Amino acid sequence: MKRTIEKGKTLLVDGPASVTATSGKVTVFGSIVGSTNKIVIREGKRLPFFAEQSAAFDISLGENANIEEVEDDTIPISWSKATEEIRGFQTTPLTAIVLGTVDSGKTSFCTYLINKLLNKKSRVAILDGDLGQSDIGPPCTVAYTFIVRPVTDLFNLKAENAFFAGVTSPSKVTTKVVEGLATLKKEILGNNPDVVVINTDGWVEGEDAVKYKVRLVEELKPELVFCIQRKEELALFLNNLERYRRIVVDFPTAARQRSSEKRKNIRELGYVKYLRDAKIQSLPLDWLKIEGNEVLGLGKTHQNIKRARKIYELLGMRPLHLAELRDKICIVIGARHWIDWECIKKVEEYTKKKITVFRKGEEKGLLTALYDGHKKFLGIGVLQEIDYVRKVMKIFTPASREISTVTIGEVKLDKNMKEIPTFAEDNRSEFMKFSKLF
Ligand SMILES: Nc1ncnc2c1ncn2[C@@H]1O[C@H](COP(=O)(O)OP(=O)(O)OP(=O)(O)O)[C@@H](O)[C@H]1O
Ligand SMILES: [Mg+2]
Repeated sequence: MKRTIEKGKTLLVDGPASVTATSGKVTVFGSIVGSTNKIVIREGKRLPFFAEQSAAFDISLGENANIEEVEDDTIPISWSKATEEIRGFQTTPLTAIVLGTVDSGKTSFCTYLINKLLNKKSRVAILDGDLGQSDIGPPCTVAYTFIVRPVTDLFNLKAENAFFAGVTSPSKVTTKVVEGLATLKKEILGNNPDVVVINTDGWVEGEDAVKYKVRLVEELKPELVFCIQRKEELALFLNNLERYRRIVVDFPTAARQRSSEKRKNIRELGYVKYLRDAKIQSLPLDWLKIEGNEVLGLGKTHQNIKRARKIYELLGMRPLHLAELRDKICIVIGARHWIDWECIKKVEEYTKKKITVFRKGEEKGLLTALYDGHKKFLGIGVLQEIDYVRKVMKIFTPASREISTVTIGEVKLDKNMKEIPTFAEDNRSEFMKFSKLF
């Protein structure tokens, strides 16, 4: 499809679509679009093509894609003032953090800032602190990269290093995320940036969210805090961050709101991107450091043989795996096995610890992250199997060499990289009820 746009207007394109600006001067978030560049817009995303001079486009629209022509530039004036503000600062390196609710244009604002700074030859890094709608690293990670040329979509970049939190929402892992971001920021500073732009997630409502973001800011010590707000939704942040240079920027009227289903679909494209060229790797459990997901009780076996025997006796069976942790005991049994509820109660009475039972096979699909011996992120993977007899872990991952640590997350994926419900601690009691039925 061909389309022409007059100077000073914007073509909003909602993906899935691809667009080539065949003539005229066109910018997307401040990045000049070349006439040979075919720009792909993912499903659930919108890109604004601003005609600085009248322009012609070649457009392909996918299912449910949409285009709309609007007057003027959809980039708020306060966004371009924000770039001036950064340039006016003499400090190098300078760190700016961006706060805002979901779909407030945080990613787009970061993209715009970065593009404008790159046009002035600054060395710019983006540190992406959004686990659920990550632009740089895979979903469930925080990540960074340096950007060398203007981009229309940060998703096209590859992470330089990342930190895996294992979940899509920060609420239960705030300390982990704050520490992960602080470590990555330190690493960025070791590589001589002029500007570090930090993006954050859209969790801003409620006391916990405020506490978390204030802590994040205090830990990352930015020179500038940009708050994207429509009304007063960030008022509490502005009050709590008085010691920082805060700048309120506008919520773009053209920003598109997405349903949680759309957000999930966007996230799933992130898994696909980072699992391209994946193969199944068999990793010996004894060689690995295994972190996360305590339910599996991996990396820990029962040291006290006598006590273990007693537990087996009370259980009336020998499980595939038994791990005694500080406050609980994890038991792994075969897929077709079951344990009598009364036996579990007896073990709980004997050990004074809560028992969690896990069936072999339930681990399939758990998202994992792989690191080398220096804690450098090698990629994500999908756990296929833990073979407790051969003591190997099978992971579908593009990472192949130098894997020394595996972190197991709490997100589960099916074979098409779609998120599926995972077992949770709370489900254990469901399992108990269920097993009683046999
Ligand atoms: N100035 C703008 N002009 C046109 N479209 C915009 C503008 N700003 C944002 N959008 C579009 O609106 C949608 C939401 O914006 P964006 O992804 O930047 O928000 P976000 O706050 O990062 O969202 P999330 O909470 O999902 O991370 C995107 O599809 C984006 O391309
Ligand atoms: Mg975003």
